[in-house]
Amino acid sequence: MRIAENIDLKPFNTFGLSSIAERLVHITSQDDLVEYFESAAPYPSLVLGGGSNMLLTRDIPGTTLKIELPGIEVVDEDATHYYVRSGAGEVWHAFVLKAIESGWAGVENLSLIPGNVGAAPMQNIGAYGVEIKDVFHSLEAYLTADKSFETFYLKDCNFGYRESVFKRTLKNRAIICSVTFKLKKTPSFNTSYGAIEQELERMGVTDLSIKAISDAVIAIRRSKLPNPKEIGNAGSFFKNPVITKGHFESLKKRYPNIVGYPAADDVKVAAGWLIENAGYKGKRVGDYGIHTRQALVLVNYGGANGEDIYQLSEEVINRVEEMYDIRLEREVNIIR
Ligand code: EPU
Repeated sequence: MRIAENIDLKPFNTFGLSSIAERLVHITSQDDLVEYFESAAPYPSLVLGGGSNMLLTRDIPGTTLKIELPGIEVVDEDATHYYVRSGAGEVWHAFVLKAIESGWAGVENLSLIPGNVGAAPMQNIGAYGVEIKDVFHSLEAYLTADKSFETFYLKDCNFGYRESVFKRTLKNRAIICSVTFKLKKTPSFNTSYGAIEQELERMGVTDLSIKAISDAVIAIRRSKLPNPKEIGNAGSFFKNPVITKGHFESLKKRYPNIVGYPAADDVKVAAGWLIENAGYKGKRVGDYGIHTRQALVLVNYGGANGEDIYQLSEEVINRVEEMYDIRLEREVNIIR
């Protein structure tokens, strides 16, 4: 177990925000976890994975655990599927690329999502018509109160839109160690998201493959989402809100171009549209602001501090509520 003191977490969060961790403990094996929790060490103040969905607005006193559990292996297979287990500390996109190279189908639509494998089930990451729940088999987590490892199957995780039991009742109580995916031997391509069809056509793809879908998704993401290595960000900062049909119809009278999609009996509204229409797209204040090509993404141009970005998100929430009577929810985990 490697321990360091007074470490700036700037390289460890995709927003690129400075935050001093008093004590940073690198967890590289399950034994490290057991050792940490069975010692008299204080409960960690923060558990960090890839830091891709987090807004740090202050320093972190006490201990920060950095989960770096490695390894990708096929643990089982049947006639139709490979069961592939990945350590929580593997980089998500590297896992996707390995799946594509190995012919394990199902995660290609989830290409280029920042963060680590362990964070993926936390908020049931999703993009271009696929969510983690669609390829999820099980995960192993360490329950800090019981000091034991437990396996969670699909039904145990309560996956919803950017939601899971790990964000709710098990918040700060379970540390995800590994995730096992159920990946197809024969792909069933999901090109239902309009932008993928268009991109495949633009690329001149006639022979569909998981690699081609991945390449299309990568091209789409690069065209509208900022690369965290260049401009700090945490992907969509807000969730797309779900409102009643009646509410949507009344908004449509005032804003005929509003974008919404059916979601069961309700309508899921494109928060990016709401924010853009409120005049915020591309707004920049000093070193932070709202991305020029995707209004759902808040960005750090270099020297911003997390509290300023938080205050900007408050302003957006209040303005959106005034205009549309919709209260946006943050998708990003706020450490404040
Ligand atoms: N739109 C605008 N202005 C904007 C952004 C979007 O008008 O600035 C409208 C457009 O009409 C566009 C529609 O919103 O057609 C949908 O936009 P997009 O396809 O970019 O998807 P999104 O709803 O903005 C969601 C996810 C993304 C995911 C994409 C693709 C959420 C909160 N975000 O974004 O996930 O990549 O769909 O599936 O659900 C993330 O969670 O971090 C993330 C990037």
